[in-house]
Amino acid sequence: MNNAVAGFSKLSKKEKINWIAKEFFSNPEEAQNIIRNYWNSDDKLQQLHDEFIENTITNLYIPLGVAPNFLINGSYKTIPMAIEESSVVAAASKSAKYWATRGGFKATVMNTEKIGQVHFIFNGEVHTLEEFFSQIKPKFFSETQSITKNMQERGGGILDIQLKDKRNLLENYYQLHATFDTKDSMGANFINSCLEQFAKTLKKEAQNAGLDIEVIMSILSNYVPNCVVRAEVSCPVEDLAEKHIQDPQEFAERFVQAVQIAEVEPFRAVTHNKGIMNGVDAVILATGNDFRAVEAGVHAYAARNGQYSSLSHAKIENGTFTFWLEIPLALGTVGGLTSLHPLVKLCLEMLEKPSAAELMQIVAVAGLAQNFAALRSLTTNGIQEGHMKMHLNNIINQFEANEEERHLIRNHFKKTTVTHSAVVEFIENLRK
Ligand code: MEV
Repeated sequence: MNNAVAGFSKLSKKEKINWIAKEFFSNPEEAQNIIRNYWNSDDKLQQLHDEFIENTITNLYIPLGVAPNFLINGSYKTIPMAIEESSVVAAASKSAKYWATRGGFKATVMNTEKIGQVHFIFNGEVHTLEEFFSQIKPKFFSETQSITKNMQERGGGILDIQLKDKRNLLENYYQLHATFDTKDSMGANFINSCLEQFAKTLKKEAQNAGLDIEVIMSILSNYVPNCVVRAEVSCPVEDLAEKHIQDPQEFAERFVQAVQIAEVEPFRAVTHNKGIMNGVDAVILATGNDFRAVEAGVHAYAARNGQYSSLSHAKIENGTFTFWLEIPLALGTVGGLTSLHPLVKLCLEMLEKPSAAELMQIVAVAGLAQNFAALRSLTTNGIQEGHMKMHLNNIINQFEANEEERHLIRNHFKKTTVTHSAVVEFIENLRK
């Protein structure tokens, strides 16, 4: 089948949907109905969503849940989480409640520096370039004044610009490596605007000085190893005890070993960190931040020592169990979607309008809580017990079971192992 189309972006929304329905579906009307069912009934709200991206045809909903009882640095937070995976919100809530009675979460922002680079090629003597750079450096600041003025008023701006010799990586390759403080905004637009002005200044000044410089590109880096937050929980080992943790010393030791495995073994580290990102991404999405940027930066950080490793760590020292993580998070609580998307605004208000630094703390805590819940299950009963309960619910919904059927199914599978085929067979027998 040839599904190529010319001028698609110029079609109206209706025409786009018509084309898709006709082109890909044996029942175009049914396809159109599904697409329309997910439109918002408020036309203005739908238009807002239509305009977030290009070629919008409808909305893909992701559930927004909340995890209450997070005691962070002494005050309680209810954390909004947007995620399609079952059990994540329940796990976060469980961890929150567990740690609230054991001193809560402590979170500290270590630093908040963002990075951007102008990549360029220079043909000539390195010392000539170095001299040229130190002469024109003030111009990078003065010629970005109109861009940096507002940010400076908020206490941020360009922190430094350095010339980096990268010829060990690529022939004649150099960079302007700039650092920024973007306060409560994620800062992508601000940084990229500054960088593009640096590039213009660089080209103009190189031409004046007769230097052979070719700018390749100017772009921020999503790797932010100096924009890091630490989240931690800690308590005496014996306080770890509860209904499901009968022997706290044994639990703590197994837990530490599980973390050590993720520290040394990349296959496990990836899944371990995925569990952390279940919490991190859910809050990032709910607060209108860019989860792809965060994911890319976090995983680069996890591999910063040359091997992909765990983002979290645990120890038992003098009878105290401590579990912590450190992750780089470039987040914003102003600008971007934060003021445009009504639900994002609502989530930020639920979090009591945090600064970007406070949001870093909340997000890191959600990641740590998630990691704690996963490791606690994995090192005790395994995760399938809880997952299968959710799985059972999904199958029940899929079969549109009535109240009586639901009751009978749940009762039966309290004692019987849940598998897809066993549940289907049970439902079919019930309905015979
Ligand atoms: C599932 O989404 C996440 C876990 O696999 C994380 C982990 O293994 O630590 C349970």
